[in-house]
Amino acid sequence: MSERSSQGLTVAVAGATGAVGREMLKILEQRNFPLKELIPLASARSAGTTVPFQGHDVPVKELKEDSFEGVDLALFSAGGGTSQKFSPHAVKSGCVVVDNSSAWRMDDRCPLVVPEVNAGDLEKHQGIIANPNCSTIQMVVALKPLHDAAAIKRVVVSTYQAVSGTGHKAVDELEKQVRALFNMQEPEINVYPYQIAFNCLPHIDNFLENDYTREEMKMVHETVKIMGDPGIKVTATTVRVPVFYSHSEAVNIETEKKLTAKEARVLLSRAPGVKVLDNPKEKIYPMPIDAAGEDEVFVGRIREDETIANGLNLWIVADNIRKGAALNAIQIAEELLKKNLLNIKNPDAFL
Ligand code: A2P
Repeated sequence: MSERSSQGLTVAVAGATGAVGREMLKILEQRNFPLKELIPLASARSAGTTVPFQGHDVPVKELKEDSFEGVDLALFSAGGGTSQKFSPHAVKSGCVVVDNSSAWRMDDRCPLVVPEVNAGDLEKHQGIIANPNCSTIQMVVALKPLHDAAAIKRVVVSTYQAVSGTGHKAVDELEKQVRALFNMQEPEINVYPYQIAFNCLPHIDNFLENDYTREEMKMVHETVKIMGDPGIKVTATTVRVPVFYSHSEAVNIETEKKLTAKEARVLLSRAPGVKVLDNPKEKIYPMPIDAAGEDEVFVGRIREDETIANGLNLWIVADNIRKGAALNAIQIAEELLKKNLLNIKNPDAFL
């Protein structure tokens, strides 16, 4: 055990009142993360409120540039703009940042890490480590063992994403819309452009010049960066569905080498962070209601694509708030501790 982990770390959670921030607190507690002190941070609106941690109500402080004096590690989940503004100041104070927003993901200075896939990339961090997009995380955990065995050339993915990915306001909105509709009332629409209850929206994040959404292009670019292989071509359609927790994905892959469904099942059942649930005759397959609250990435419906020589179809489900966000960030922090990488060579790197 390193000196730091035996003494415990001072950890700030920026966005501690949000959907992901609250889950981060739960996971720090559940995994017995070596803590000396927890500092929950949020906007001025939340200053003075409390968050529950280890049986106590811990006061929330306003996130400011000087919030990171004496802080070893900051877990950020407070949006891209907030991270862009405050993370450089955290690094300046000697605090390593693991950021859940998209602000730093494609920045060459920042490793983009899913520990089961590319923990080694942490070695070159300069103070900010990016946590990938939720839909990308669960997909690469399942694709990594297949890529290592058979070299993936192309991925076609369609997602079915839960509203919790948009934050606690979206969870409230789905609940309120369902209640309103059951009471014959007009549902209020605030978070999404259209009603989400009993509907599907093929629109996550903004539309770009190429008519894809930003969420779709995140899956394209982040997959290549995490897997470290520009040869993997990804095309995505991302859809918001009226599910509270857990994203599901229908994934089709084409590989260089032939992999049978049986071989893929064996590889996946041995892969870290993966649980195979695949027995069609017994009606066993992953579903969002079962994945919610769990840590693993669940894979099922593994079939050979009968339209090409080397292709597979998979159904991948994971809790978007846990493995897709809070848990992955804390696993990154655990790796940093294990590898003794909680130090910053150049505190001015991002200013
Ligand atoms: P607050 O609750 O004070 O608004 P979610 O993704 O569930 O919507 O949560 C977003 C999190 O990010 C919340 O904790 C929110 O705090 C925090 N946050 C949003 N904007 C800021 C900001 N400008 N400064 C600090 N924290 C912010």
